[in-house]
Amino acid sequence: MSNEPPTLGLKQEMFLIQGESAFSYLPIIRELESKGIKVISFGIGQPDFPTPKHIREAAKDALDQGFTGYTETAGIPELREAIADYLNSRYKSDVKPNEIIVTTGTKTALFMAGAAYLRPGDEALIIEPSYYAYAQVTKFFGARPRFVSMDFEPGKGFSLDIGKVEEAITDRTRLLFLNNPNNPTGVVIGPRQVEELMEVAAKKNVIVVADEIYDNFIYEGEFGSTISHSGWRDNLLYINGFSKTFSMTGWRLGYLVARREVISRMLDLAVSIYSCATSIAQKAGVAALRGDWTPVRNMIDEFRKRRDALYNLLKEVPGFESYKPQGAFYMFPRVSQLMKALGLDSVDKLVNRLLYEKGVLVLPGTTFPDRLGRDFVRFSFATSMDNIVEGVKRIAEFAAEAMRR
Ligand SMILES: Cc1ncc(COP(=O)(O)O)c(C=O)c1O
Repeated sequence: MSNEPPTLGLKQEMFLIQGESAFSYLPIIRELESKGIKVISFGIGQPDFPTPKHIREAAKDALDQGFTGYTETAGIPELREAIADYLNSRYKSDVKPNEIIVTTGTKTALFMAGAAYLRPGDEALIIEPSYYAYAQVTKFFGARPRFVSMDFEPGKGFSLDIGKVEEAITDRTRLLFLNNPNNPTGVVIGPRQVEELMEVAAKKNVIVVADEIYDNFIYEGEFGSTISHSGWRDNLLYINGFSKTFSMTGWRLGYLVARREVISRMLDLAVSIYSCATSIAQKAGVAALRGDWTPVRNMIDEFRKRRDALYNLLKEVPGFESYKPQGAFYMFPRVSQLMKALGLDSVDKLVNRLLYEKGVLVLPGTTFPDRLGRDFVRFSFATSMDNIVEGVKRIAEFAAEAMRR
């Protein structure tokens, strides 16, 4: 293969970023289903609940009232106030509306963090396993991702050693990506460890990019938010969004919180990327934060039951070293014994066999991003209880056949 940068038939080199594999499986599922195979997907991380009615109604009202033009780049004032109130009442923080910029989803906020702070020669620390985007954004801006691995213990799951994070910081480290609760492991990092991380980062002049999009999906243990840290204005870019909590993935609404000076520069970046978040989605966001949270609570209760069911079923399946995740809606079991039994040298091959032979999709751990995850697969339990039961039944058949050899 040539090492030349791709021109893709045009005259100029194209600077590429690697996509999200959860999305790349969607056409494959469609193809299999067109052949009559009912695929059980533990793939994409998207709540299978509709956006609550009062939120949809708020968007409809906004449409009917003709609220369809550009808004302030920072977001409409009532949404920024609602976000500040949410954070301050929940995390005892002191965020002001002018310390918030509304974005077109959490992903845009992450990209802007990279755009604002990363240049060639810089390093960004990523705690792995991790959501794919942090490494991609880092590489896109010519910087180098450095990984700090969490420890895995079968039956218990993953845990983070802060000493390892501190050791990995160099004088080139600009950002530390922290995703809590964590995708793909479901780890919830508690207040004490979050405080320690914030202290370490402050001491070493590293900016923490905290992606707390799963902050409402906590099943046990205490969650620590970075925004509770009294010195957050010194080294935090706090990121959150509406996709998961309010089942609003398609609305594209998120936000970034940072000290006022940083936000006012971020506005210059944002105006050139997206001008503003969708007007009616912003009105819906106000209704989401200020309205009735009962549908959110009910959804999370249901997710807790699904997590328990997935754990109880999967722990009986040979070859899957499972554990009970404390948060988010993912489990990341180790499958190295199963791969060995099948003589497979890559988890991607295992995932393909499960998909084509049993019609079950799990995501290869190599997506998160590609090192530690080589022996793992990710299950998203944002799918119905029936799917969980049927999916694990098919996996158990597959594993039993494999382990019998
Ligand atoms: C950790 C994490 N951050 C960000 C996102 C993207 O969220 P959004 O829909 O707000 O762009 C996801 C979606 O899966 C995620 O898991």
